[in-house]
Formats: sequence, structure tokens, C-alpha cells
Amino acid sequence: MRISVIGTGYVGLVTGTCLAETGNEVICVDIDEAKVERMRNGEVPIYEPHLELLFERNIKANRLKFTTSLDEGLAHAEIVFLALPTPENEDGAADLSYVLNVVEQIGKKITDYKVIVDKSTVPVGTAEKVHAIIAKHAPCEFDVVSNPEFLREGFAVDDFMKPERIIIGSSSERATALMKRLYSPFVRSGNPIIVMDEKSAELTKYASNAFLATKITFMNEIANYCEKVGADVDKVRAGMGTDSRIGKRFLFPGIGYGGSCFPKDVKALKKAGSDENYNFKILNSVLEINSDQKIILLPKIEKFFNNDLKGKTIAVWGLAFKPETDDIREAPSIDMMNGLLELNAKLQVFDPEAMPNIKKRFGDKLHYSESMYEALEGADALLICTEWSIFRTPDYSRLKNALNNPVIFDGRNLYNVSDMEAEGFTYVSIGRKAVNL
Ligand code: UDX
Repeated sequence: MRISVIGTGYVGLVTGTCLAETGNEVICVDIDEAKVERMRNGEVPIYEPHLELLFERNIKANRLKFTTSLDEGLAHAEIVFLALPTPENEDGAADLSYVLNVVEQIGKKITDYKVIVDKSTVPVGTAEKVHAIIAKHAPCEFDVVSNPEFLREGFAVDDFMKPERIIIGSSSERATALMKRLYSPFVRSGNPIIVMDEKSAELTKYASNAFLATKITFMNEIANYCEKVGADVDKVRAGMGTDSRIGKRFLFPGIGYGGSCFPKDVKALKKAGSDENYNFKILNSVLEINSDQKIILLPKIEKFFNNDLKGKTIAVWGLAFKPETDDIREAPSIDMMNGLLELNAKLQVFDPEAMPNIKKRFGDKLHYSESMYEALEGADALLICTEWSIFRTPDYSRLKNALNNPVIFDGRNLYNVSDMEAEGFTYVSIGRKAVNL
């Protein structure tokens, strides 16, 4: 099939590449000329595992092309995906200006039937708005479909190629049939394509992300309570997770959720609710708890150093909001580091992928280390903010030798408490007993 994808961020690029992989002819459109040129030369502009291989293969096969021309994209495609940013407005609402600007142009430019697909996370009612804008100008038939993405950064290619479900919000049989044909290679395993009205599809995305953010936040509260009463959140989690109604996943406590989706989507859903005079009380709590959780280790570090961090050096492992990404948007590491800098601590930081992004943000306020062990040299404690695999099995004796004191504040519960106790580390984690304190 002939596809265009407008916008080549995470979602657009993964969507375009994976659709090309199943034999479709895909043109990706972006206004950023330099980025388009780089992509034409085979350079993937983001870090996303497995994307490069598919990217190169499909460019070579002439199925994946890039342009800055919306006209070219529209002339080519029967299905046009909108994968444009919907950033947060000051009031928390999703900013639809990128989407609606492009939609206006599409309305003015199309001359034959097309399906316009909302892939971006957009508030309920956006498909209706998009339809109205195109209808004002278009001389031909068209349909608007809501098809939210559920891609996790770091697993986006896998999630796209083997989705647990595809949601199609459509009230047109013609468009639904085209979308089902397009997605049929991805659901051979029997996973469902669920067709519903546009508004329900739009809300499915927000409801899913808000639910997952709530699930994590609930566990973070249980973890904090575990510390008060001497219970172990690992054991509580294992006990809860075996109940199939609860499930094992997304029960891992830590220093809060971050990223480009959960924080933005929870706020947007809350704002959308208040626009309809509906107060999402649960989401207010989730937002409040998560912002406290991001800095939950700060007072503990302060207390350990007798409320005086001046002249102390803290090594920080993990800066990305989660492993397998260079994305630092809303990363808990940022809140922790800002808090520590305010307390006059010096920071020696390391992350396998996110160093360039953190450098852009923090400039010369931090010391950037070449390796995880270099970050420890002469530090008074180690703080872990992201659970990269390489941090899971460190050389303990190297760690002890490099640090001034064998002290670890672990925001992601990477190690066994009893192992750390036996190794002689002062070890403070989330929802579990602190040892050698
Ligand atoms: C999320 C959704 O999973 C995806 O479906 C949606 O389309 C986009 O948003 P992503 O933001 O890439 O994906 O990351 P995800 O792996 O879901 O993690 C989100 C945050 O929750 C991270 O900060 C992670 O550290 C945190 N998290 C996750 C926990 O704190 N505990 C958990 O048990 C799981």
C-alpha cells in the first residue's frame, strides 16, 4: 500500500520504517531539511534498538523515502499518518497546533480519496475536529481514523511489529477495511484489531497511560509504607503479581515515572476532565505523589551527610528516564540532580546513552565521566537513577575501592539487600530495609 507519515519523531519514524518492512511504499515527511537529508543518507536520528537495521534495509529496497514536501507525501499516499508532536501547554492541555496546521494544509491540497490517520496522542474529539477542518476545503471524499500508538521507547520496533492489539477508531467501513488490510501482517499471531468509534479510541490511549502511571504510583506508595512498617516491597510485589487480575508487570517501585508520555498524558487527561467540569481526583494524587517520589531519596542522602553536602561528591549512575533510551524528558535523575546541586553537592555522572542530552541541559554544572567506574572515583556515595543492565552486576571490590565511603542510594532496587549487607555497603533502596546505615 502507499503510505505517508507526517512527522519523523519516535512514533513517525518507527511507524514509517515498520510499515515499509511489510512491503508498503512509505514516504516520511518532515519540515526539518537537515534531518531529512541525514535520513536520506541512512542515518537514524534517534537511538532506538533494532531500528537501524530495518531503516537501512528498507531505504535500500526503495520502500522508505524522505521528503520535506507535504505535496509529494500527499500525492503518493492513500493512507496519511499524522505523527506530529502534541506537547504540553502551560495549563497541561495537549497543544494541537502542529497537528491542526498540517491538517489545514492537507484539506487544501488533497484531490483524491485518502484516509487521514491520527497516530499522535490527541484529546477526545480531535478526529471530529480534523474531519471538520479538512471538510471545509477538500474537493474529494476522505476519512479520518484514530489509531493510537502504544510504543514503549527502547522496545518500539518490537511493540510495532508484534502489537498486543491494534486500536482503530473509525466510523467508515471503507477506511476500516484499508486499515485492517494494512495491519494484517502484524496480527498473524491472533492478537486483535479492535474497531471502535473515534472518541473511544482517542480515550483508550489516555486511559491506558494514566492507568499504568497510577499502577506504578500505587506501588510507590506501598513501597514507602513498607519502609515505615518494616515490610519488603519485593515480597509484597511478588505476592500481589501472582494474582492474574493484578499481573506481574508495572509493579516495580522506584524514584517515579518519567518520559515523554506518562507525565504529559496524565496531565492532559486531568485538564481534559476539568474542561468538562470533571475532577479526576485519582490523577491529581498520581501527579502529586510522583513529583514527591522523584526526590524521595534526597532527604535520605541529606540526613546521611548530617545535612551538609557542601564539598561532598555524589556519583550518579543512570540519567535517562529509563534504560535503553537516550531520552531524559521528565527523568527523575534531573529532579534528584537539581536537588543535590542546590545543596551544594558535586556530581560525577554517567549514562550509557543520555550523556549528550544531559550535557545540553546541565552544561558545566556536572562532571561527565567516561565510564561507570570513573564516575565513582573519589565520590562519597553512589546514587542510581536508571536501571541500565550494566549497573546490575558491578565489580563490588572496584566499587568499594573507588568510593570514599561504600554507600549506595539505589532508586531502582537493583541489588539484593542481603548481598549488599554482606558486602558491607551502606545500602538504601525503595521500600526495603536500609542496611549498614
Ligand atoms: C509508555 C507506555 O508504556 C507506552 O505504551 C506509551 O505509548 C508511551 O508511554 P515509555 O514512556 O516508553 O512508554 O516507557 P515505559 O517502559 O512504559 O516506562 C514509563 C515510566 O515508568 C519509566 O519512567 C519507568 O521507569 C517507569 N516504570 C515502569 C516504573 O517506575 N515501574 C514499573 O514497574 C514500570
